[in-house]
Amino acid sequence: MTDTDRAVPMLQMEGITKRFPGVLANDSVDLTVLPGQVHTLLGENGAGKSTLMKVLYGLYRPDEGTIRLDGEPVSITSPSDAINRGIGMIHQHFMLVPTLTVAENVALGLGGRAGLSDMRPVRQRLAEVSERYGLHVNPDAYIWQLAVGERQRAEILKALYRDARLLVLDEPTAVLTPPEVEELFVTLRQMTADDKGLVFISHKLHEVMELSDEITVLRDGRVSGQTRPSESTRESLAELMVGRPVELTRNVAATERGEQRLAITGLNVIGDRGNTAVKNFDLAVHSGEIVGLAGVSGNGQRELADAIFGLRPIRSGQIAIDGEPVTAPTPRSVRQRGVAYVPEERMVEGAIGDFTVAENLLLVDYHQPPYTRRGLLNRSAISSWCNRLVENYRVKTPDIETPTKNLSGGNIQKVVIAREFTCDAEVLVVAQPTRGVDIGAAEYIHERLLEQREAGAAILLISEDLDEVIQLSDRVVVVLEGQIMGEVDRADATPRSIGLLMSGVRDGEASASAD
Ligand SMILES: Nc1ncnc2c1ncn2[C@@H]1O[C@H](COP(=O)(O)OP(=O)(O)OP(=O)(O)O)[C@@H](O)[C@H]1O
Ligand SMILES: [Mg+2]
Repeated sequence: MTDTDRAVPMLQMEGITKRFPGVLANDSVDLTVLPGQVHTLLGENGAGKSTLMKVLYGLYRPDEGTIRLDGEPVSITSPSDAINRGIGMIHQHFMLVPTLTVAENVALGLGGRAGLSDMRPVRQRLAEVSERYGLHVNPDAYIWQLAVGERQRAEILKALYRDARLLVLDEPTAVLTPPEVEELFVTLRQMTADDKGLVFISHKLHEVMELSDEITVLRDGRVSGQTRPSESTRESLAELMVGRPVELTRNVAATERGEQRLAITGLNVIGDRGNTAVKNFDLAVHSGEIVGLAGVSGNGQRELADAIFGLRPIRSGQIAIDGEPVTAPTPRSVRQRGVAYVPEERMVEGAIGDFTVAENLLLVDYHQPPYTRRGLLNRSAISSWCNRLVENYRVKTPDIETPTKNLSGGNIQKVVIAREFTCDAEVLVVAQPTRGVDIGAAEYIHERLLEQREAGAAILLISEDLDEVIQLSDRVVVVLEGQIMGEVDRADATPRSIGLLMSGVRDGEASASAD
């Protein structure tokens, strides 16, 4: 017996079953977490990972099964009950109140003494916790002002502030850049050193291999395997998840690029904090090419994409499509010019949670024939089109009338992608297309993206996933502080060449510093 065999599990989930109308989300699932351990939950989109964790966090009642904490059976009735029992959860979609500050969000719900009136003790302890775990974030910043990475640090701070011993992190790295992931891992290792138990969810297999002590793989709600990094490879994990071998790398043939479709000249865009987020930006994207825009998040990518799509005003400069300037762009006018947009924040800009899957699939086209004729909705055309998209893009949903918010995170992403890739756009602005998407679906989305390129679309691919950018892009443009740092052709695009540019080192300097 080793030491870990003898430790009392802090968490035992036994035979957990959870049903939703038409869906068996968890089917007799077992999960054990020891103190000081990272237990990873792996599985395709819709496999039941978030559901299992929501059962643990008191958001859902299980239909069957037992939860034990430190060996004792418990019934967790609500998130505040879970928090009181030392369980914290960082959700896949953030839960902080945007109009409050970091410190206020932490204090919120603590009640009594630590209400919003006297923030001094809150700030004091917050400073201690953030120091201990290396979670640096300005306590007085409003959540809406924060970049995603900072928002996440605030979420983790909030959980630690409440003395979470068992922390669930539902795809925390999906929204982070590689350096931010490294920082997060330092924080997580400090937590396990303090004997906290972690449940970690990620679709990125190299992270899973790096961080996990134990790995439980779910497929269709059931445990399909249990393993450890030392006994696995990325390929074996992918196969356990998907149930078939998966192509983890891809070679893309060069193609002839066509005419210039999207031209951006001298563009300046103001960011949320009043800063110039995009500075004197020049970029052209041609028919039949994928231009990758790489960079650490918060360097103007989102503002650029929003500006192209008319969601954010332009300070100065010009955006032209097929040689014609776009004046006073609005999402609708830009769309009419043949531009499609997959935004970074699928739940804010991409899809409407309360709408059905069908409604979200038709957000763009509903007012046009064949879906509307003489002002009337054509139900059969709608349902056959939507069912086809759901099938082609493998959206896991009971039917097209299901509210979109009931879908798993990756499946919501597939809905947005399906809509935007099938509206015959000539210019595609695609931000983080495979964020939170499982390996099999990412492979599929990449194929569709390349298909759009073959068909002659001009594609601007904004992604923090370097592997994705390098595999797919014909050339990679690296952005830093709203400006172009450099451009690298497909043949020269390597994690190193791009990573250096991302961190602000230009070509000549790179070779000098390598000596
Ligand atoms: N509130 C709900 N109502 C109805 N169905 C739901 C609800 N929540 C989840 N489901 C369904 O349960 C299944 C499991 O979803 P879950 O969110 O647990 O998947 P996941 O493994 O977290 O996937 P992802 O990697 O995409 O986040 C899915 O088919 C989903 O549509
Ligand atoms: Mg999930």
